[in-house]
Amino acid sequence: MKPSNSTIVFLAYCFLLVGIVAGKRSALDTSAGDAETIAHHYQTVKLSSFLSSSICSPSSKRDKKSISFEVVHKLGPCSKFSKKKLKAITLEEILTRDQSRVDTIRSRLTTTSTTRKKVINFKSSKATMPVKSGTTYDSGNYIVNVEIGTPKKNEQLILDSGSDLTWTQCQPCTGSCYTQQEPIFNPSLSTTYSNIPCTSTACSMIPSATGNLPGCSSSTCVYGVQYGDGSYSVGKLAKDKLTLTNNETLDNFYFGCGVTNKGDYGTASGLLGLGNGKLSIVTQAAKRYGKVFSYCLPSTDSASGHLTFGTSSTARKVQYTRLLSSQEGDTFYTVRLDSITVSGKSIQMSPSNVILDTGTVITRLPLQAYSVLSKAFRAQMMQYPLTKRVSILDTCYDMSNHTNVKIPKLTMVFSKDVGVVIPPQGILIAASHTQVCFAFAGNENPSDPSIYGNVQQMTTEMVFDMNVGKVGFFRGGCD
Ligand SMILES: *[C@@H]1O[C@H](CO)[C@@H](O)[C@H](O)[C@H]1NC(C)=O
Ligand SMILES: *[C@@H]1O[C@H](CO)[C@@H](O)[C@H](O)[C@H]1NC(C)=O
Repeated sequence: MKPSNSTIVFLAYCFLLVGIVAGKRSALDTSAGDAETIAHHYQTVKLSSFLSSSICSPSSKRDKKSISFEVVHKLGPCSKFSKKKLKAITLEEILTRDQSRVDTIRSRLTTTSTTRKKVINFKSSKATMPVKSGTTYDSGNYIVNVEIGTPKKNEQLILDSGSDLTWTQCQPCTGSCYTQQEPIFNPSLSTTYSNIPCTSTACSMIPSATGNLPGCSSSTCVYGVQYGDGSYSVGKLAKDKLTLTNNETLDNFYFGCGVTNKGDYGTASGLLGLGNGKLSIVTQAAKRYGKVFSYCLPSTDSASGHLTFGTSSTARKVQYTRLLSSQEGDTFYTVRLDSITVSGKSIQMSPSNVILDTGTVITRLPLQAYSVLSKAFRAQMMQYPLTKRVSILDTCYDMSNHTNVKIPKLTMVFSKDVGVVIPPQGILIAASHTQVCFAFAGNENPSDPSIYGNVQQMTTEMVFDMNVGKVGFFRGGCD
């Protein structure tokens, strides 16, 4: 029977017609506090270490079990390896996609409002999964492997702390599917798979998880989620067994079985929704692991980061700051950024709310804060010649004559006294082998959200304890 398929395709068009609602943000103009100065050194880093970071890593030491992406090199830094053969993506393209991501977040900020829910009791157990740098910026994102179904079927999902619904491409692709690395999930081969009816509670969570009303096709709940760059996934809301690691499983895990999908997901199978909403894996895993999870994004392709549900072993050394998310069930994780120090000196900025997002590459700050920050940074980089900007990155240096670069230490200060030292790979990003750019940007549009991006998060263990509503930072959680 095929009537449901045409309905889904029709619904896909409907979802695509849904306009993006302009976001609104409250102005936060409290007076700037005097943040502690944490360190005042410089650090000298080999330029090649920026090239081998996520922007351009020749694949090496790939663990077949965790990720088997083909590395797609970019034109710039990697051109010496692969100028001719590979179709590469430039830093500019990454930044264009990144802006779409920010636009998506802005539009979603108006659609997340849900009711309070009680904290669920949990067994104290733990599951850890390796996190890999996403095909060398093919997507600019990070990948985690999970398995769905019985028998288990491997899925490479993009880690997304800015969305709730996990989805994966599903057969039959009644609309269209993009090319992915693994064979596309076939629900009819899984004995534990089932579709979710339109009348179910899970279906009623679709609006808060996706920003769109659910559809109903042959009494199955239909979801649609679209992103600012025109990419989308539409399909059936389903449940199946999710295997996190070899023997840690979540039965009846709700996810989207996407039969019409389009977008820049690299060769990943879909998204892993790590948001704080009701349908996210964080909430679904809470019964088993508690509402505590942590992740660490690796700075190179050869290093492995992790995503852990349950209390992390580093928990004791973590510095915590309060999460500002207005209510439980909101998708985004928001914290208060009080100040930034450059070479130990606090810049004069108004405190600002920033969203912690694994899917945004470059940290976005209010224009005022960025202006002061970039000025302070430039003042410490006088020995290097400034060169042309790259898209939103306006502080770029010509490094033709250098093999090392001496950069000021930079610390993000949350809640006045939680100082997170940004590693060198989170301060500069390579645009080519002779050009590096300061990896922060200012929001031209005051309604754009401030975001703590994945370049700055690299190698820091990010610990989320949703029972008490706090997030912690631990330097050096992974390489
Ligand atoms: C999970 O599997 C590993 C090895 O495969 C085993 O050592 C461990 O005891 C198992 N854990 C549980 C909870 O079954
Ligand atoms: C590199 O050094 C050469 C020789 O000293 C000089 O002519 C050139 O301008 C320098 N380039 C940059 C970008 O500093």
